[in-house]
Amino acid sequence: MDIQTFRKFYDISDQTIVVTGGAGVLCSSMCRMLADAGARVAVLDMNPQAAEDLVVEIQASGGESISVVCNVLDKTSIEDAAQRVLATYGRVDILINGAGGNKPQATTSNDHPFFDLPAETLRWVFDMNLLGTILPCQVFGRIMAQQKRGVILNISSMNAFRPLTRIPAYSAAKAGVSNFTQWLAVHMAQEYSAEIRVNAIAPGFFLTEQNRFLLTEKETGALTERGKTILKHTPLGRFGAPDDLLGTVLWLLSPAAAFVTGVVVPVDGGFSAYSGV
Ligand SMILES: NC(=O)c1ccc[n+]([C@@H]2O[C@H](COP(=O)([O-])OP(=O)(O)OC[C@H]3O[C@@H](n4cnc5c(N)ncnc54)[C@H](O)[C@@H]3O)[C@@H](O)[C@H]2O)c1
Repeated sequence: MDIQTFRKFYDISDQTIVVTGGAGVLCSSMCRMLADAGARVAVLDMNPQAAEDLVVEIQASGGESISVVCNVLDKTSIEDAAQRVLATYGRVDILINGAGGNKPQATTSNDHPFFDLPAETLRWVFDMNLLGTILPCQVFGRIMAQQKRGVILNISSMNAFRPLTRIPAYSAAKAGVSNFTQWLAVHMAQEYSAEIRVNAIAPGFFLTEQNRFLLTEKETGALTERGKTILKHTPLGRFGAPDDLLGTVLWLLSPAAAFVTGVVVPVDGGFSAYSGV
């Protein structure tokens, strides 16, 4: 294979990519990489300031990007955002569903036994992760169905394979995201086009604002028992850094993964492979 053909495998230049939750820790790193690779990046986020700051940064380094305020739990808001992206760039080739997360109030502890976790908090976590992935897939999936091509990438988690202690709603919601990824991959290919692919990544443990309270002590920054246990069960011996996701993301979005759909790829330093023995 000559070098030009090889480069085309990973060529995502000239693609319009929508990233929900794009201003967050993991997805902002993806947005920077995608813009560096020549894509047009629409940063959809509830936090307009963070999204705009990221866009200014991307543009300053020569990238093409817009920020669009969007709530992934409100279909009208997503439809408005889609119109804004279409009006600016004329099409949408790729969707990354990055908005998601957990809440301390949905986490069990001595003060918060499972039996007392409030229904509205549990519902928030289910909606944030599962509905907040499904609704953008409806809106942008319709555009992909019409143009008969597209790529969707969802963000699942380690706890989708086997639930992690203390976070019942987040575990169930991310298991739902993995299941939905498989369902949508089959549906889009069978009903609309074999050139629409749907996959997910399952990041392992990345020290971010959503899980810092579980992995490190607030006062000292030292590892909690849970943080230590995670590292003991991660053969590569460290937490992930946001940039650790980028190679897998690029692969799944690019022509190199043209025959890959319906998979959930762990990016976890070996956590899911290790039995602990
Ligand atoms: N951090 C980890 O270790 C880890 C591990 C596995 C999976 N994940 C998943 O990766 C994804 C990104 O995680 P992160 O740690 O970078 O999160 P983050 O909290 O840094 O970013 C989330 C972004 O989503 C935005 N957002 C929140 N609610 C929204 C809504 N309703 N509509 C639109 N945008 C909204 C926020 O403003 C924020 O910019 C999430 O789905 C998370 O569950 C994270």
